[in-house]
Amino acid sequence: MGYRDRIALYCAAALATSFFISNVVMPMWRGSCGLRVSILHDDAKDVPIGSAFRPVSSSSLGPWYRPYTASPAPTRILNHAAGWTIFENLYMSNGTFFVVRDLSPEELPEKKFVLSRSNFSYDNYYDFKAREPTDEDLQYITPAEAARRWEYGAWGISGNTWIFPYPPVTLLRHYYHACAETFLGAWRFWTGTFDPNVTPSGLTKAPPINRMIFPFNGADEWKDFPRLNAFFLFSAWPGLTVEEKDQWADRVFLTRTGDKAWVYERVLLHDRAATSRELVVYPKERKIAAVAYEATLATSSPFWWEPVRRSVLQFSGVDKEIIDLALRYEESDTPVITYISRQRGRRRKLRDADHDKLVLALEQLAVTRGWEFSVVDAQDMPPEKQLEIFARSTILLGVHGNGLTHMMFMPPVPKATVIELFYPGGLTHDYEWPARRAFQFKHFAVWNDTYYTYPHPPHVKIGFPEGQNGDGGFQGNNIPVNGETVARLIEMRLDGKL
Ligand SMILES: *[C@@H]1O[C@H](CO)[C@@H](O)[C@H](O)[C@H]1NC(C)=O
Ligand SMILES: *[C@@H]1O[C@H](CO)[C@@H](O)[C@H](O)[C@H]1NC(C)=O
Ligand SMILES: *[C@@H]1O[C@H](CO)[C@@H](O)[C@H](O)[C@H]1NC(C)=O
Repeated sequence: MGYRDRIALYCAAALATSFFISNVVMPMWRGSCGLRVSILHDDAKDVPIGSAFRPVSSSSLGPWYRPYTASPAPTRILNHAAGWTIFENLYMSNGTFFVVRDLSPEELPEKKFVLSRSNFSYDNYYDFKAREPTDEDLQYITPAEAARRWEYGAWGISGNTWIFPYPPVTLLRHYYHACAETFLGAWRFWTGTFDPNVTPSGLTKAPPINRMIFPFNGADEWKDFPRLNAFFLFSAWPGLTVEEKDQWADRVFLTRTGDKAWVYERVLLHDRAATSRELVVYPKERKIAAVAYEATLATSSPFWWEPVRRSVLQFSGVDKEIIDLALRYEESDTPVITYISRQRGRRRKLRDADHDKLVLALEQLAVTRGWEFSVVDAQDMPPEKQLEIFARSTILLGVHGNGLTHMMFMPPVPKATVIELFYPGGLTHDYEWPARRAFQFKHFAVWNDTYYTYPHPPHVKIGFPEGQNGDGGFQGNNIPVNGETVARLIEMRLDGKL
């Protein structure tokens, strides 16, 4: 045989072999090992949604990847409390959420505890009755109904998504409300659902968050001016991407004809108003994170917050030694007292003379006892530097305000304490709840020369007194405080007498 003949024969043999393998051997082999080659074909009816849109890793067999499924898989509800729901396969079409289930209504959560009407304005935001969901917001349908509706299939958005349908004029622009309520509550509910064994050093098997959606907020409606929300978000969960109202509007537009849907593989959906409808936990305080917290008491690790705290601190370049303070805590560690000053802010300030006397009293205390004391004015400090200070603080002290949100980064040591200065007679639970409950610290409310801790006596109620003699009251710039009272309170607490 000549050279060319040999090549021709070789090619023919190769062709024949490959024909034989792909048409005879492979089908037999696939049949015998149960591989579902059918997902290659458009008429497949029985592909579980998860596998339909997760790329197959083996390159020799694929990729058998398809972004949609013709037959919608049922929605699973993995956990639910008022306003906090975790789903697998949650559908959205034309702006309406769909739960695809063959269950009777009693077996599904009541809709008004899942989602609220999205036609809110700032004025009707707390009018929960007017904001009960309609069929435009949320529907429960059967798989047959879903297949009938979505003739062009359900399109997969894989991974883990947190969805926060907050009103456009929003509380989210505020560091405390976004981070210490919404994100904190979400993380608690997420870890309380997926990982009861978060370790003291912050290792968790809870699935990573891939995506966060603010369907009705633009960038300037969820980010605060100093960028602390963004700082927190991306340093806590570095892999997530954010979709805002523009992208949501795109997805609504693409499905406006109602003949196809998006399917989110795994979702935490949190609706603030739906949480507030739950009148069992903290009704007056409207502490939305409290609902997520209490609902997961039995399934949460005591260290549930550590993955977030440690990630943000590590990102900020805080020393490992400091991050680990609580892990190697000893009774003899030097306490660190931090006072967050608002004196250069616009409102809610101490009387200048009282501020000076307070600083003096605390300096004296620190010198006498060999403790550490510092005054922090967040205005002239980058977040990384602020976080380092809070990561070391045993006692965090300040007038009621956003700065106290930084308690999220305090080491969870036995003497950890938050002291909140109020105009006498004034009180809120914004910082009391996370301090006392979420982080298990001690919280004191100071009214000039008096202080209270939980459980407060009955006359200490939520209030925002207008004040006396034109001093501005709760929000004003003449809040009195007796420095000696605060110094003695700190001393007793650190000496273990409180
Ligand atoms: C929102 O919709 C509800 C029910 O459809 C209606 O009663 C209410 O007036 C609407 N509110 C606004 C602000 O449009
Ligand atoms: C899509 O939503 C809009 C606004 O809610 C509604 O007017 C329209 O009828 C919906 N389209 C379909 C096909 O359901
Ligand atoms: C604050 O407490 C001090 C010490 O008891 C007292 O002298 C002062 O009058 C109080 N100030 C106000 C405004 O109540």
